[in-house]
Amino acid sequence: MTPEPTELITGIRELTTQTDGAPRLTDAALVIAEGRIAWIGPASKAPAADLRTDVGGRAALPGWVDSHTHLVFAGDRAAEFEARMSGQPYAAGGILTTVAATRAATEAQLLASASRLRREAQAQGTTFLECKTGYGLDVASEARSARVAASVADIVTFLGAHVVPPGIDRRGYLDLVTGPMLAAVAPHAQFVDAFCEVGAFDLEESREVLEAGRAAGLGLRLHGNQLGFSGGVRLAVELGAASVDHCNHLEPADIDALAGSTTVATLLPACDLSTRQPFPPARRLLDTGVSIALATNCNPGSSYTTSMAFCVATAVLQMGLTIEEAVWAATRGGARALGRDTGSDAVGALRVGGRADLQVLDAPSVAHLAYRPGVPLTWAVWRQGVRAGVPSPSPLPA
Ligand code: NIG
Repeated sequence: MTPEPTELITGIRELTTQTDGAPRLTDAALVIAEGRIAWIGPASKAPAADLRTDVGGRAALPGWVDSHTHLVFAGDRAAEFEARMSGQPYAAGGILTTVAATRAATEAQLLASASRLRREAQAQGTTFLECKTGYGLDVASEARSARVAASVADIVTFLGAHVVPPGIDRRGYLDLVTGPMLAAVAPHAQFVDAFCEVGAFDLEESREVLEAGRAAGLGLRLHGNQLGFSGGVRLAVELGAASVDHCNHLEPADIDALAGSTTVATLLPACDLSTRQPFPPARRLLDTGVSIALATNCNPGSSYTTSMAFCVATAVLQMGLTIEEAVWAATRGGARALGRDTGSDAVGALRVGGRADLQVLDAPSVAHLAYRPGVPLTWAVWRQGVRAGVPSPSPLPA
């Protein structure tokens, strides 16, 4: 097989690598070969390559790692959003509106809509993305959602425990989720999750679901402490979950538990704005030594955005993070929350031998992500070494 042409990307005014040794370089270049980074260093010392792309003094950084999305759904909930903006509170029960629309859609329709959202995310710099099931809530519909998720996302999470659907009692539903539904979804999934909240699942129910998922070989994540002090954060830590997501309402003991653990606190600022929840105590989490990730939580109910840049800007402008911390949380933090921060399949950092997943901003530094909020700054994206949205850069045959 003819090897892929190598590509030199040069003219990088500021290169955020997110590696531990040299997290940021100036006047840099890198070389991509076979989907991986083959060389990184000063532009003046760059080796030759088959192709050369000069990004003209722009900033480059790893592609975003969006570690929390729910892209498989039909319909929207604009009316619910509008009512919320007029003072109605957000409640878990709205999920059932999307369940009805999702069950009524065909698999082709779900695939088309989830693929559109994945493309939308990639066009804004997202190169690695997790996606949950959770709007099917019967065995066939959850299995179908998992198939669709597996064809659009890099990581799939089983969220049968989103809410109890109508027509079945709680015990019967938990038996379904931890039995036949788990068996049908597990072949397509890497993680299991539960919505541990008033109106969804309590602590013991969430524990039962996560333990069943673990016994089926899945990693653990949990929606916790979104709408109140659910105890979800401490449950996630106790079970060794990779991530606990939302974390809006935290007691000091929750923060201490996270700080003494490897569980990542995944914060979802776009959801907090859309549901008018207080932001999580991000500064306190970081100052206590907790690893945090930022993610979009793209879904039609509580956070209908695919923009990681919006989440980064909000985390800086509203949650007290520095630019550097927010960009780390949206790249390596997301990778850590998905168990992909180390090893040959690691994402979220640019290192020699690692995946060539990167984005270039139409700006000289990452500071512009928050300094120019709301401005679409994505200039170019490479995923596994292939530039998105442009034809393959192979030279014409002689
Ligand atoms: O992460 N919290 C639970 N699940 C989604 C919301 C889903 C919905 O309202 O449709 C979330 O916010």
